Amino acid sequence: MDNSKIKRYTVTAALPYTNGPVHIGHLAGVYLPADTYVRYLRSNKRDVKFICGSDENGVPITLKAKKEGVTPQVVVDKYHKIIGDSFKEFGVSFDIYHRTSSLTHHQTASDFFKTLYEKGVFTEEVTEQYYDETAQTFLADRYITGTCPKCGNENAYGDQCESCGSTLNATDLINPKSTLSGEPPVRKETKNWFLPLDQYEERLRTYIEEHKEWKPNVYGQCQSWLNAGLQPRAMTRDLDWGVKVPVKGADGKVLYVWFDAPIGYISATKELFEYARLDVWNPKAEEYYINQGEVEKGNWEEYWKDEATKLVHFIGKDNIVFHCIIFPAMLMAHGDYILADNVPANEFLNLEGQKISTSKNWAVWLNEYLVEFKDKQDVLRYVLTATAPETKDNDFTWKDFQARNNNELAAVLGNFINRVVVLTHKYFGGKVPMCMNLTAEDQQVIDDLAAFPAKVSASIENYRFREALAEVMNVARLGNKYLADTEPWKVIKTDEDRVRTILNISLQIAATIEILIEPFLPFTADKLMKMLNYGGYLWEDAGKMNLLHRGHQLNEPVLLFEKIEDEAVQAQIDKLNQSKADNISATAVAAPVKDNIQFEQFGAIDIRVATIVAAEKVEKTKKLLKLTLDTGIDQRTVVSGIAEYYKPEAIIGQQVSLIVNLAPREIKGILSQGMILMSEDADGKLAFVAPVQSHQNGSVIK
Ligand code: MF3
Ligand code: ZN
Repeated sequence: MDNSKIKRYTVTAALPYTNGPVHIGHLAGVYLPADTYVRYLRSNKRDVKFICGSDENGVPITLKAKKEGVTPQVVVDKYHKIIGDSFKEFGVSFDIYHRTSSLTHHQTASDFFKTLYEKGVFTEEVTEQYYDETAQTFLADRYITGTCPKCGNENAYGDQCESCGSTLNATDLINPKSTLSGEPPVRKETKNWFLPLDQYEERLRTYIEEHKEWKPNVYGQCQSWLNAGLQPRAMTRDLDWGVKVPVKGADGKVLYVWFDAPIGYISATKELFEYARLDVWNPKAEEYYINQGEVEKGNWEEYWKDEATKLVHFIGKDNIVFHCIIFPAMLMAHGDYILADNVPANEFLNLEGQKISTSKNWAVWLNEYLVEFKDKQDVLRYVLTATAPETKDNDFTWKDFQARNNNELAAVLGNFINRVVVLTHKYFGGKVPMCMNLTAEDQQVIDDLAAFPAKVSASIENYRFREALAEVMNVARLGNKYLADTEPWKVIKTDEDRVRTILNISLQIAATIEILIEPFLPFTADKLMKMLNYGGYLWEDAGKMNLLHRGHQLNEPVLLFEKIEDEAVQAQIDKLNQSKADNISATAVAAPVKDNIQFEQFGAIDIRVATIVAAEKVEKTKKLLKLTLDTGIDQRTVVSGIAEYYKPEAIIGQQVSLIVNLAPREIKGILSQGMILMSEDADGKLAFVAPVQSHQNGSVIK
């Protein structure tokens, strides 16, 4: 959108599900870039509303409630507060952090549905869904477990098998069971309202193609959805938690969570104006984390219906289709609303090389970080922005966290500020000295400094926050280099006036850093502002030479960043390893025990000790090794799927347990006579099973 046409901004950040706290992946992918963008806009005096809230409907919430044995309301109340507090403490500066369980939201979403219904947008379709006769309720896919048709895992969910990762339909499962009653569900007909996305395909295509400037990952995903052809999608569900479907004959049905959640952005904006306008103290202000100071004029509709409003959705990549296809189709169907100008979705952040997982507790939770690294919000903000998964998945490691704090924040940024402020106190009683004659070197530094704000702006306006932050750090590097080159601590002995100039320029650099760093590291900016004893900077001032006037009194220096020691990061690594260990033992215990067998059946298996005497890779396969085994009875060939864990040369001489009477099978053209036993842990790592002390080959295992 052309900057000159923009009157105001509506910036949204994906509404987190309230079925658990938020972790670093959420912060890095969605909330930090959004907050940085909004703070930047505010610093540019642009009119912006920053909207978020809790996504409190849908099956994930009811599942969590069931697991904890409480009502869904108890779950959402608990996590709304935990998540809202974490955001607040990390300085994520929403104008409102609303809730989709609120009355305003229920009304807004319900009205939206009614409008579409009355316009005849929906089609009605009767489909067969699984129904639990004992519990007398339809079953969402997540409420059904059964055997995965792809891999045989007996505990696959109706929507997904966690063992092989396939996406499933509940009706694909073999031997489905309801998790409510444990009984096999029956199929039952039910009517739901569908949004005929296929009818919006051409308009959506036009919309997407008008936005070739979107990030390639977002644009590409949209294209592939469109090219695959859009299907009608049910906008109502048989569930008893959520926004009731406001039409006749819809008892026991609620709006599909992906229908109501994005409308949550609209209801939040409404709520913001409704409450913040009131002059009296209002109890909801606290529950909704309302930034009361912000709203004096205008109304919510301008932020959603006026073409001069720039709407931007910050989300993670798993939300792209909902924000770029389904929600726009809903808005088009409604007719009154503007569409998003950009949807800068990020990829995923991994943790220590592994996918972040709530269920495996493989995560860094914001609420826990705040306890363990008190007052170090900006360190995490910095590291997560510097390693943000903007163009591809990225990895967070504690070692990198430590290194970036120590080598960048402390050694570059903190060090520069500290030196300038300390020297000013030491030589001039903390008063900003006068700038005297400029050398060519000074002028160069002044020119270089002046070029930075525009560079940082361009990066931020194009949603390249890593690049923007790197540029801000380069301002501190410029300052450090200037001090190192001019050496005021030496010059002071001979030429005090020269030092006045050097420190004046250095202090202006520090003031510019305060302005430019604020969108990224607001707590640091605040400390810096106090140290420099000067506030109210706006972006337009950055890079100027007159930010701190001669004679202006600075406050005492405070340390911006302290070193993070090895012990602190080791404790975090240990903690993660602990959750890995807990997990493995939990999985091992939880692994389903097979049905009982008779002793005779066990006795039929002939297991012997054998030794690997030769091994080679089976060509054109990744996993297979061809082993030659001395069984004490004979030498034989066995093909085994262990190549990813063992190099052929490393296992010669290894004793193993071998089933010698397994019917021979041909594998990749090789006759495999038997099977060696391996132990496999929850991560799929393999280990040989063998007698703890060496036994003669052919010894019987029983
Ligand atoms: N709760 C969803 C998630 O965590 C995001 C919802 S975004 C909204 O993936 F647009 F629907 F609000
Ligand atoms: Zn599977």
